[in-house]
Amino acid sequence: MTEHIELKQLNNNLRYRFDYLSKFLNFTSDDIQLLNRFAVILLPRIPVVADTVYRKLLGFDITKQYFLIRNDGFEGNIIKKPTSLTTESAQMTFRKDMLSRYLKRVLTQTDWNDTFLQFLSQVGKMHTDQSGSESINVDYIHINALFGYLEHLLLDILWSHENLDDKTKNLMFMAINKYFWIQNDFFTMHYLKVWNEEDSTSNEPVVNKTKYCCL
Ligand code: HEM
Repeated sequence: MTEHIELKQLNNNLRYRFDYLSKFLNFTSDDIQLLNRFAVILLPRIPVVADTVYRKLLGFDITKQYFLIRNDGFEGNIIKKPTSLTTESAQMTFRKDMLSRYLKRVLTQTDWNDTFLQFLSQVGKMHTDQSGSESINVDYIHINALFGYLEHLLLDILWSHENLDDKTKNLMFMAINKYFWIQNDFFTMHYLKVWNEEDSTSNEPVVNKTKYCCL
């Protein structure tokens, strides 16, 4: 049987988009529960994960540059000289804290309701120039690379965890992997500019503005 999927709905209705991805990836409430169980394993290690992530991002000038230009919500003096910025600088401690909170929220979320989907979408959007005049615009290559790197860090922590049977561990690996691809899509849809929330309130027929390549 072939299920019909409406392109317009995919691009303006977050719940519809998520439902489609969930069916495609077979992401179910079981996966959410597995992520919640994984949270218990990961939470004590989140500071190490955040530190490792920012060590990586500061390890290349091309990714380091983004942390020298803007830090929304950070009240201290921002360091703008590349050689002075380290993972221990106040603005990076602030970023590490934001990433830690993000991971905690994602993994402990028990109900992937509309507010939560909106949150996942906002996090993606804020990395692009779609977010408004002051928004950062992180080139997608770095986003993709970081997703790969972050996922490896989490899988490695799970791999070395001893108090789990192989079947549960395997299901947890898959749940983590599904979450990464869903969150990645919620970044990508803003980068590809396919996402058009305004359309959801309009009855006008939608001209297909979809761009599948060439950012
Ligand atoms: C795995 C992919 C990524 C995730 C899940 C992620 C997550 C986040 C989160 C949760 C925030 C904080 C949101 C808030 O302030 O409420 C944030 C902000 C930020 N991220 Fe990312 N991020 C990712 C990739 C990257 C990459 C690759 C870079 C740069 C190379 C980057 C640079 C930044 C910067 C500069 C901010 C601060 C933006 C501002 O000041 O408004 N992020 N990110």
